[in-house]
Amino acid sequence: MQADSFAGMFDRNADQWARQEPMILSDFTARPIVLQELAPVTGKHVLDMGCGEGYVARLVAQAGAESVFGIDISSEMVGRAQQAAASGAPCPMTFESGNATNFQDFPREQFDRVIAVFMVSYLTCAEMTTVFRTLRSHLAPGGRFIFTVPHPFLPYIRPLEKPVYFDSKGRDYFAGVDESYEGCIWRRDGKAVPVSYMHKTFADYFNALAAAGFQTLPKIIELKVSEEHLALDRAFFEGAVGYPLQVLFRIDVQ
Ligand SMILES: C[S@@+](CC[C@H](N)C(=O)[O-])C[C@H]1O[C@@H](n2cnc3c(N)ncnc32)[C@H](O)[C@@H]1O
Repeated sequence: MQADSFAGMFDRNADQWARQEPMILSDFTARPIVLQELAPVTGKHVLDMGCGEGYVARLVAQAGAESVFGIDISSEMVGRAQQAAASGAPCPMTFESGNATNFQDFPREQFDRVIAVFMVSYLTCAEMTTVFRTLRSHLAPGGRFIFTVPHPFLPYIRPLEKPVYFDSKGRDYFAGVDESYEGCIWRRDGKAVPVSYMHKTFADYFNALAAAGFQTLPKIIELKVSEEHLALDRAFFEGAVGYPLQVLFRIDVQ
């Protein structure tokens, strides 16, 4: 049921997400680092779980991927991803609607790279483990899995202010696990985009990776506002300076 309401939220806000250039706070603080950690992608087959309207998928294709396959639970987001790819893509790009928790219909048996950019945020801990297990089974030897999530401390240390927040509504760090925290993330043009986040502790991510059979330690990057961001647009970024905004997990398999 929760998945239906998240799909509805993204269906309703698909136009706010559709973009051809960096616009949302995380387009600056997180997605460029995903691309950086994903490299090299030349010649790689990439699976983008929770691809949205295809913003990251398009960047991956432009970076030289051999193919990109995206799945998203929101049919409105998938429609926009398909439309953008139809008007010219540097490699085969396929997008389909589906829930990550039961999506089995992959065009390939194995992928060299798997990404889930702010999608795991919409899963419970049990669902996350299921999805991690599926994704691991489709990673080629020597493959890499990268996912990003809101920093689990953010709802506890940040006021409900732009350019990003999540509201714990008084639920504590442990009691709030698997509860949905509503929030907002801002675009540089001043628009606020509604987001949600199924709260998890830091340990929950490690435990899910282990339960799914990943055997190597992830590389962790706590994502933040940098000097470059401030030089670009101080007014937009300065409210988030010093906060751990998001976390990137990168897992390289043998
Ligand atoms: C914050 S958006 C990020 C979209 C895209 N990854 C990006 O970085 O632009 C999260 C996406 O996850 C999708 N999503 C949420 N729950 C999902 C699920 N259970 N299965 C597949 N997609 C899901 C939403 O529809 C939404 O498009």
